[in-house]
Amino acid sequence: MPKQFEILYREELVPKTVLFNVYAPLAARAMQAGQFIILRVTEKGERIPISISGWDSEKGTVRIILMAAGRTSTEATLLQVGDCFQDIVGPLGRRSHVEELPGTVVVIGGGYGTGAILPTARDMKALGNKVIGIIGARSDNLLLLEDEMSDICDEVFITTNDGSKGIQGFVTHALEQIVNRETVSYVLAVGPVPMMKAVSEMTRPLKIQTWVSLNAIMVDGTGMCGACRCTVGDKTRFACIHGPDFNGHEVDFAELVARQKMFLKEEKIAMDALKIEEVA
Ligand SMILES: Cc1cc2nc3c(=O)[nH]c(=O)nc-3n(C[C@H](O)[C@H](O)[C@H](O)COP(=O)(O)OP(=O)(O)OC[C@H]3O[C@@H](n4cnc5c(N)ncnc54)[C@H](O)[C@@H]3O)c2cc1C
Ligand code: FES
Repeated sequence: MPKQFEILYREELVPKTVLFNVYAPLAARAMQAGQFIILRVTEKGERIPISISGWDSEKGTVRIILMAAGRTSTEATLLQVGDCFQDIVGPLGRRSHVEELPGTVVVIGGGYGTGAILPTARDMKALGNKVIGIIGARSDNLLLLEDEMSDICDEVFITTNDGSKGIQGFVTHALEQIVNRETVSYVLAVGPVPMMKAVSEMTRPLKIQTWVSLNAIMVDGTGMCGACRCTVGDKTRFACIHGPDFNGHEVDFAELVARQKMFLKEEKIAMDALKIEEVA
């Protein structure tokens, strides 16, 4: 029997981005598409929210994809099979919006967001929808989960900023081709904020239902601390309990970006300390 929060599988998908299967049976039993967990790497470490990219309720495992962004995520990506996370809380947040729709469903992933859209793509497909995936990256060596996206979706578009694979440019270039070709009823975009904002701006005049997953800074994940406060449709919302998915046409992205930068100074100090500890 594995230990609680033990890493059973580890794979570096692309540099600095690692997929883990972790034994977390209680979370795995209750998980739904679009939800996330909050984990700690060490007892004194900070809590970081991570999307779920899959789960196996019988084996009791959850699958997460971690990109080394700062101190805690870097420490997490260094863990190996047999190591344990200090703790994992979840599932947190609401299930992604899924329904049977008359037009095409488009799911868009950038970076770790490609893992996050997979469960929703699967649910949408199971309801009988036509599902098209778009995966975007700076270059082809940074593209994630192409094969798995192809298994789930009816069609997959690849975009790379440098043109090394697929369409040269951004995910919006692929989306443009799709909306010019067929009726799109629903878009889900998960990834960097500029990507989610650009997608939302593109679909607003077309009146396409658009969901984005807000990667606000989170602490408790239960609506108590207020760290993940955001503004959606002129209302104050907490991304951890009201989201993480929100109507992209109503999100105040400028506020989200400003709040994401609140602790830049402290984040740099923490990362510098990690580098010193590694050298020592
Ligand atoms: C709902 C949700 C799902 C996410 N899913 C994933 C995922 O599947 N894979 C993945 O690699 N990353 C995911 N993230 C982002 C991940 O939580 C941050 O990269 C991580 O917290 C950074 O912490 P750090 O100490 O490594 O970096 P730091 O140097 O502390 O921070 C780097 C940047 O990450 C953001 N950040 C820092 N602390 C937090 C925090 N406690 N909560 C949220 N953002 C923070 C800030 O914008 C900050 O500027 C998700 C975030 C949210 C809110
Ligand atoms: S993380 Fe504390 S209110 Fe959302």
